[in-house]
Amino acid sequence: KPVIFSGMQPSSDSLHLGNYIGALSQWTRMQEEYDAFFCVVNLHAITVPQDPAELAERTRATAAQYIAAGIDPAKSTLFVQSHVPAHAELAWVLNTLTGFGEASRMTQFKDKSQRYGADTTSVGLFTYPILMAADILLYQADVVPVGEDQRQHVELTRDLANRFNSRFGETFRVPEAQIQRETAKIYDLQEPTAKMSKSAATEAGLIKVLDPANVTRKKIMRAVTDADGEIRFDREAKPGVSNLLTIFSVLTGRELSSIEQEFAGRGYGDLKKALAEVVEETFAPVRARTEELLADRAELDRLLLAAGDRANEIAARTLDRVYDRIGLLRR
Ligand code: TYM
Repeated sequence: KPVIFSGMQPSSDSLHLGNYIGALSQWTRMQEEYDAFFCVVNLHAITVPQDPAELAERTRATAAQYIAAGIDPAKSTLFVQSHVPAHAELAWVLNTLTGFGEASRMTQFKDKSQRYGADTTSVGLFTYPILMAADILLYQADVVPVGEDQRQHVELTRDLANRFNSRFGETFRVPEAQIQRETAKIYDLQEPTAKMSKSAATEAGLIKVLDPANVTRKKIMRAVTDADGEIRFDREAKPGVSNLLTIFSVLTGRELSSIEQEFAGRGYGDLKKALAEVVEETFAPVRARTEELLADRAELDRLLLAAGDRANEIAARTLDRVYDRIGLLRR
């Protein structure tokens, strides 16, 4: 079976609609046909300041949301990054193969470091994409399902794999990003030209999987639209309405045109009300199942450790080969 690898940072109290649509809902579909690895990337999360107790909680909560949304731990290897030391070890090796200029061109680093300022920007944030490359390459992944914002990082991963292979001999499979066109980027409800993100200035445009229904409904009812009053998909002229239509379409599996037809001649309020129901239908069961999973911590931890053992076995195999290739003595 071909291999997929993907991950999310446990850096918020809840995943958001962009994570769900751009990544998680694809993963659950793909786990049937692939040997799938889904990682909670807690080493990535600490590239910006985290509260320790919260980080531990959020790591479990992120894993619980994966399962609640349909990742089956019996089919997929769902594990925590810090359970597998090879990630940090391979990242070090790849650091030595990455050009300083090459890493400086990563746009997400430029954005984030601008937001945090030079003094609070860590070197870890700078090398973040290289750790991500290590994640992917350790499992010899063929496909990496992600949202649009990760495209450049997967490109870097490919470059590093090719570089290593040509310098030291065939070692890594060169992965492909899989970025679904319609769902690659879900936008902030208040600022529909910016991607929905946990680091947005306000949470008013951020739909969280674990928020109660009334909070989400309010945010959807207040979503920014436009003055022309027509319910029609047009990303350029009508970014707000188009974003709502995309979300509606993805969550119901319906064509955009059928939704446009249903709402022809009706107001934005009707569309928003219907969308709030669709979102609630999707998230209510995820929320309930997440709560159940978090109520039995011991069982969740046991699941994660077992998956970590499997991940360790595979990752260690790749790392051994890497060490041999470059002449690092092993223990
Ligand atoms: P993270 O935690 O920021 O986001 C997790 C996933 O959600 C996608 N995503 C979105 N998709 C559509 N619309 C949005 N508004 C939106 N916001 C986020 C992201 O593209 C991502 O797929 N660096 C990664 C985590 C990572 C990783 C990896 C991913 C670490 N190692 C190896 C794949 C493979 C990140 O920060 O994702």
